[in-house]
Amino acid sequence: MPTVAITGSQSGMGFTVRQYLESRGQTIIGVDLPGKGAEVDADLSTAEGRKAAVQGVIECSQGQLDGVFANAGVDIDKPELTFGVNYLGVVDVLEGLLPLLAGSAPSAAVVNISNSISITPGIPTEPAEALLAGDLDRAIDLMAGRERWSYQTSKFTIARWLRRQAASDRWAGSGIRLNAICPGPVLTPLLEHDLADPVKGTPIRGLPRPLGEFTSCEQVAYLVEFLLSGRARFLVGQLIMIDGGIETSFRADHHPSVWKRGAEA
Ligand code: NAI
Repeated sequence: MPTVAITGSQSGMGFTVRQYLESRGQTIIGVDLPGKGAEVDADLSTAEGRKAAVQGVIECSQGQLDGVFANAGVDIDKPELTFGVNYLGVVDVLEGLLPLLAGSAPSAAVVNISNSISITPGIPTEPAEALLAGDLDRAIDLMAGRERWSYQTSKFTIARWLRRQAASDRWAGSGIRLNAICPGPVLTPLLEHDLADPVKGTPIRGLPRPLGEFTSCEQVAYLVEFLLSGRARFLVGQLIMIDGGIETSFRADHHPSVWKRGAEA
């Protein structure tokens, strides 16, 4: 049976995915903040914590790691913290685990978690490009005066990282599939925190709900199980909206978009 590492395994979606995969016989290596009861204690907001996460997963894995659900995240208007957890906490951990995952090729798979990048207009792209270029300090500087965009920017950046990396020799070429899920609002402690925020709460409550309800953690768990499994072996570099139709009700014609290549552009 597969062994899967889950970051942010002790709350919300990470915890439900953990319980569900365990109920299906899979072995979970949870990574979370110290004191949360995960197999690996690590604060992903710091470089040392990210190293500890990689080392801890390697030690717990007994040489086998088939999947990663890179799920840990925070929604706080502090770019350094939010970029540390939501972007570097994914990229550094995945880079560190790449050799171990490659040992499970061709059935190794990663699921990242993005979000409403799909429905939030005007996300600043310069800080995202700075992060993608590895310049955290510049990315933080570029967020000055627009700290409230920290979360959306981090989620946009991780989606863009995934799209650029997924088909590369390093990932697909190593037999490791990268995909991401993009949930709409899911009732977890993180969302409760946002709903209590006077600025963020009102627009979330006002979102359309074509199916009449928000996404549940269980729906997320079923999708993550599928994406990590061999049944999804031809899915690479996809951002899968799991939002009950919110995204398509905002921007039906944005995807697919017509594009031009090279000299035609
Ligand atoms: P949650 O707050 O219930 O769980 C987040 C987990 O990440 C917790 O276990 C927490 O301890 C862990 N975590 C936070 N900071 C950490 C750090 N510095 N180091 C290690 N672990 C840390 O949140 P939820 O809602 O389950 O979110 C999971 C993911 O889903 C996040 O990436 C979030 O951005 C994303 N998401 C959530 C949505 C929602 O409506 N709840 C919608 C779309 C995406």
